[in-house]
Amino acid sequence: MPKHQIPFARTVANLRAQVDAWHAANKTVALVPTMGALHTGHLSLVKLAETHADHVVVSIFVNPTQFAANEDLGTYPRDEVGDVEKLSAHKVDLIYAPTPEEMYPEGFSTTIAVNGISDGLCGSSRPHFFGGVATVVAKLFLQCRPDVAVFGEKDYQQLLVIRRMARDLDLPVNVIGAPIVREPDGLAMSSRNAYLSEVDRKTAPKLNELLRSAANLLAEGRATSKVIPNLKKRLSEAGFDVDYLEVRHAETLAPLDIIGKTPTRLFAAAILGKTRLIDNVVVPAPR
Ligand code: PAJ
Repeated sequence: MPKHQIPFARTVANLRAQVDAWHAANKTVALVPTMGALHTGHLSLVKLAETHADHVVVSIFVNPTQFAANEDLGTYPRDEVGDVEKLSAHKVDLIYAPTPEEMYPEGFSTTIAVNGISDGLCGSSRPHFFGGVATVVAKLFLQCRPDVAVFGEKDYQQLLVIRRMARDLDLPVNVIGAPIVREPDGLAMSSRNAYLSEVDRKTAPKLNELLRSAANLLAEGRATSKVIPNLKKRLSEAGFDVDYLEVRHAETLAPLDIIGKTPTRLFAAAILGKTRLIDNVVVPAPR
């Protein structure tokens, strides 16, 4: 696609005017929610969105309510000019980049809690996180009224939380998951990878490498009770401060001890230097 100038909406009213016009013309709309600092992972969602709807809206909003007071809201990478440049090479019809005041007007006091599926994994170490995500994504859905919305499997629990929320609240949107895009050395792409020091950047791919080998051992029938502690040890030796390593059902996120025919994933979060990395891999069904 040749580079093109993408229109911007900064207000709900402007976003709605455009989306309403598309819907009135019987066109479908896909939304790709992001916090900007876009990389190839985000752009893969845009490409997938294109295949599911006539028009694509990308939102860029660093959502304050999903950051705890001690987290990186202030330093989270922001690069609107660079983001627009990257998106302009794709079939994006509108960028929605509201201000914090537009999203959270004075006196804002509603939070959406998606219970159960938000518990554990990232929900344990970041208890504020999924409430903030679910609330902002519900708002984005109601502001934009997309037919389709695309989320990455990189944030796998987030994808399932959003899917459950849409189902529970009868939000008329089809939530689509997109595969994880990785650097050539296996590191899952993330805006936060920019925080990694040169040395830590070299160590970071070990997370995926060790997760994949552990997943293969599980598929060969090795016991979870052996594989997970060993994985933790190897990650610690490599310099990671492990937050969690868990084997869970890929659709319900129920913890699994025995690997069988049910779709299974191995989930990890670990801190390297100042950077919290998350990743997840499929655990193949035992042969
Ligand atoms: P952000 O971290 O910017 O990610 C936006 C979307 O890109 C999410 O759906 C995420 O899973 C996806 N993504 C990020 N890295 C990816 C990769 N390497 N491969 C595939 N997909 C990837 O996630 C958020 O923003 C926010 O929580 C948001 C949903 C926008 C709500 O504020």
